[in-house]
This record gives sequence, C-alpha cells and structure tokens, in this order.
Amino acid sequence: MLVACWGAKGGSGTTVVAAALATLLARAQGAALVVDLDGDLPGVLGLPEPDGPGIAEWLAAGEGVPPDALGRLEVRVTAGLALLPAGAPGQWAVEGRGDVLAALLAADPRPVVVDCGSQPVGHRLAVAAAAAHSLLVLRPCALALRRAQRSPLRPSGVVLIDEDGRALGPDDIEAALGVPIRAIVPWARSIARAADGGLLAGRLPGGLARALRKAA
Ligand SMILES: Nc1ncnc2c1ncn2[C@@H]1O[C@H](COP(=O)(O)OP(=O)(O)O)[C@@H](O)[C@H]1O
Ligand SMILES: [Mg+2]
Repeated sequence: MLVACWGAKGGSGTTVVAAALATLLARAQGAALVVDLDGDLPGVLGLPEPDGPGIAEWLAAGEGVPPDALGRLEVRVTAGLALLPAGAPGQWAVEGRGDVLAALLAADPRPVVVDCGSQPVGHRLAVAAAAAHSLLVLRPCALALRRAQRSPLRPSGVVLIDEDGRALGPDDIEAALGVPIRAIVPWARSIARAADGGLLAGRLPGGLARALRKAA
C-alpha cells in the first residue's frame, strides 16, 4: 500500500503527518517504509543527516542501476521502520525514473509512506499520482485551500490540521475540494516539540496517534 502525503504550502505539517503515519503503520503491521522526497524526515525521526546516497542519486543514475539499488539505500529508523533518504539536492532526475520509482514503491510488500513535500512536481508528482492514498495535509487557511484547488494533483483525502479561530471548517474544505477529510490532527505544542525534538518514531504524541490511526 502506497500512501503519499503532500501539502499545498510549506509549513502545513506534511512531514510530521508522513512520519507519524509511517510509525503507526510500522507498529500495526510489523514493518513499514518511509520515503523522503523533501529532505526533512531524518530531523523529525531523530536520525543524523544521512551521508550516503539517496533517492536523488538513484533518480539521477538512470536505468543502469542494479535492481536491488533502491533497497540498499534504506536506513534503519526503528526495529520495524526503514527510511529511504532524500539524497543530495540539485541533481537531475533522468526522464521517466519518477514513474519507475512510483511503480517500485507501489509493489513493495510493506506499507510505504512518502513525504512528497509541498506543491509536488516532477518525480514527487509522479509518486503522489500513483499512490493508493494521496493525502493532502492542509491547514484551514484560505490561501492554502486556493493552492490545493489549483494543484494538478487531486487528493483522495485530506488530513486537516485543526487550528483554533479559523473561519474555514471541515465542511467548507470537503465542499471546496470534493474529497473526504480522513483525519483531523490537533495543532498542539506537544506535537511541535516532539517533531522538533526528533521524537516522532520513538515517542509519538498520543493526540497525533489517535488522530491518524484511521487515515490510511
Ligand atoms: N499538528 C501540529 N501541531 C503543532 N506543530 C506542528 C504540527 N504539525 C507540524 N508542526 C510544526 O510545524 C512545523 C512545520 O511542520 P512540517 O511537518 O515540517 O511542515 P511541512 O512539511 O508541510 O513543511 C514544524 O516545526 C513542526 O514541528
Ligand atoms: Mg516537509
């Protein structure tokens, strides 16, 4: 099962949701893979910056790579959770390799959660478009909603970040996008602290776990 998380704007909580979902799936199913297409996952998972090659190098290497090359890039996060790191930025993906990456991830027997970043294009768009669950992580902000409506990518569901005092409610968002809200995640200091302290794999905040348990 391939789950893509993406945002319409940066700072939406996309990386936090992707890391938390992968942690929950690894616990529930014994194994899961989380794929970093935006570069921030090691920070929220409490890992040092990976110094080896990652997805960017794999995409740039083209079709000459051995069949097991992608698997060899994996880094251990916990007993059940592995990370495919983003690799170094600024490399050119060989044409068509985004589609190959999407197909390989979709065929993985483990649940796979991908952080596709905000406003995905190129290989990030290819992976998000191929996902069984394409989750838009959205703060209840009119500008983010407008961007989501203009996006070439149509989500299969929304993870709404719940913030006090916003005029936009879940019904408005469902009506504007025409897709269901799969989870409502609270905007909470405990979540910010856990994310910024790199604790999302080790000590997932209860409110985040409860909110996301049925999202994918
Ligand atoms: N539900 C939440 N409650 C509180 N803070 C959050 C929540 N989700 C994300 N944050 C904080 O907001 C910032 C941006 O989150 P992040 O997941 O990196 O967003 P994005 O990946 O969409 O750019 C981080 O500092 C993170 O700790
Ligand atoms: Mg991010």
